[in-house]
Amino acid sequence: MFDPKKLKKDFPIFSRKINDKSLVYLDNASTSQKPKSVINALTNYYETFNSNTHRGIHTMSEEATAAYEDTREHVMKFINANLPKEIIFTRNTTEAINLVAYSWGEENIKSGDEIIVSAIEHHSNLVPWQELCRRKNATLKIIPIKTDLTLDLAAYEKLLSKKTKLVSITAMSNVLGYMPDLNKIIKSAHKVGSLVLVDGAQSVAHMKADVKKLDCDFLAFSSHKMLGPTGVGVLYGKFEILSNMNPFMFGGDMVKSVEQHKAYWNDLPWKFEAGTPNIADVIAFDAALTYLDKIGLENIHKYDQQLLKYAVGKFSKYEKDGVSLILPKSDTSSILSFSIKGIHPHDIAQIFNDEGVAIRSGYHCSQPLIEHLNLSSTARMSFYFYNTEADIDRAEIALKRTLKIFKS
Ligand SMILES: Cc1ncc(COP(=O)(O)O)c(C=O)c1O
Repeated sequence: MFDPKKLKKDFPIFSRKINDKSLVYLDNASTSQKPKSVINALTNYYETFNSNTHRGIHTMSEEATAAYEDTREHVMKFINANLPKEIIFTRNTTEAINLVAYSWGEENIKSGDEIIVSAIEHHSNLVPWQELCRRKNATLKIIPIKTDLTLDLAAYEKLLSKKTKLVSITAMSNVLGYMPDLNKIIKSAHKVGSLVLVDGAQSVAHMKADVKKLDCDFLAFSSHKMLGPTGVGVLYGKFEILSNMNPFMFGGDMVKSVEQHKAYWNDLPWKFEAGTPNIADVIAFDAALTYLDKIGLENIHKYDQQLLKYAVGKFSKYEKDGVSLILPKSDTSSILSFSIKGIHPHDIAQIFNDEGVAIRSGYHCSQPLIEHLNLSSTARMSFYFYNTEADIDRAEIALKRTLKIFKS
């Protein structure tokens, strides 16, 4: 049974207090908390079979290699990829996107080519493409955002042409919670022969990612936003495409054989995993996937909607006091950004923290979007399945206190 109150007990961090109040954690879009099973998996690795992978033939090295490769298989199943070779471990989503921008971009983007991103991208899915375009004298085109805070897909269709080589798009905005119509975006891109990279940093933790159904060419996401440790990211790529890409980094492990003046690359996926990987964290990521499998992404997605509705209901009562909810006219998930007229979001976050409620304030690594909204920054609450309506009630208490301090 999906019972958030019970599930919360699996997360040791919730026994801590912030400013003498029990912790309410509403900063899940930045990083999620970790269940005991993930923490135990980390400790277990270091205490019982800490060893380097792929190199030794001693027992512990074999155990570490098997556990590391088991996670790869698990990720493959989790996103419904075809082969473990299609799963590359990186440090995070940012590195996964940079891997494509360098390995694929250097070989495939030429002067005059075009890359399309959208106006709601995280800096991690914008700056690598700005830089690639600069290096190659290519053009970066941006899908505009409409006044209802959804993407202008009619304008997108007009941006597409034979010059388009890549569309790189978020599956869920980290500021708006908005989920663009990826099926439509991907189909249209493929019609003009363009590849599509999906930034799943927010979405993969909250709803079922199915790369076969979606037919995306690349998917990037981070373990730390989905109960796993920091320092692990995933790049999924279609086998054919990854096979034809050059390595991103060079050194040990990514080579099959080496001569004085030349080296021969290892097979996929190791060709893209130079040096000692983040063994412990990859192994513990497996425990995070097991946990998510157990509770079910459908349940998480449904519950996200329920919590968001509750939060919108609570916070919209204060619109008369200058509170503005930044909500697209579309289905959104698990994220509620807001501003309060005359109060800086950092001050809001500070008062929330005084009340034991962790929220985020700032640009959320999406400066162009925030500036487009004519804001200097926003406050953001982001939920996960271990949050409850009681957590949102605590956020409401913090909101009332903020209004009292600044408006009286
Ligand atoms: C939509 C989106 N893309 C990319 C990233 C970057 O993720 P990471 O910092 O794990 O590389 C984030 C992080 O917040 C994000 O929300």
